[in-house]
Amino acid sequence: MRDQWDAKLYDDRHSFVNELSRGLVDLLAPLKGERILDLGCGTGALTRQIAASGAEVLGVDASPAMIAQARQNYPDLRFEVADAQTMRFDEPFDAIFSNAALHWVKPPEDAAASMFKALKPGGRLVLEMGGRGNVATILSAAIASGAALGIDLKAAVNINYFPSIAQYAGVLEQAGFAVTLAVLFDRPTKLSDGEAGLAAWIRMFRPGLQELVPAEKHADFFRDLENRCRQLFCDGTWYADYRRLRVMAVASPLPSPGIPGEGAGANCETLFPFEDSHPGK
Ligand code: BEZ
Repeated sequence: MRDQWDAKLYDDRHSFVNELSRGLVDLLAPLKGERILDLGCGTGALTRQIAASGAEVLGVDASPAMIAQARQNYPDLRFEVADAQTMRFDEPFDAIFSNAALHWVKPPEDAAASMFKALKPGGRLVLEMGGRGNVATILSAAIASGAALGIDLKAAVNINYFPSIAQYAGVLEQAGFAVTLAVLFDRPTKLSDGEAGLAAWIRMFRPGLQELVPAEKHADFFRDLENRCRQLFCDGTWYADYRRLRVMAVASPLPSPGIPGEGAGANCETLFPFEDSHPGK
């Protein structure tokens, strides 16, 4: 597949993607010495945040342009071009982290299987991606604006995988993961470039649309699109209607530790790994 990413533009104008997800690294809770894979690392901002914990991080991305920019941004860190569906590693990881990447991977089953294989037994997966309904206002408006010009944009607009909690949990469970947390929440996201922000978002993330809409109709297309998305415009700024799916999972079913206090098998450290979760504390 053609590398569609303009990595410099991504860093300059769309870095909000990483800035809003810094809390995701807290959920990962990386530890010094752990081997961690940052899957779909883009230009490497969160890879660096993970590395600051002392973990040994490898950032991978399917886009050579993103990896070239990540190496330039953080020359001390390790980055490789790799595809989520086909990636294979010599050594397994303690954890996989992924932000705003897995909604580009279709179908999702191969990626789930590759992630499972890349983890040690019990290894953790912490991810955030667009969830069901993500950017629905923008995408349905783009289809309608195309239709108003007599152009069918459905296939060029619907290029992502935005699953519900149930759909994605099912994909992960099928691959062997135990899902321990899943949340779907709205995150209206401020776009750069003021009044031009919505058109800039479309140019960055749906470049195929411009090829389908003849150049002399671009102005009409964007005017109509902006009219349809008015509810996303506030105080001179556009807000994309992002909806995030956050998931935590472990590679292998959760162990069933037995019943506390019932003789053999009961073990306080395994049963209550966090001191204050012990019912006797
Ligand atoms: C997202 O991060 O949700 C996203 C970004 C670009 C296009 C589609 C979705």
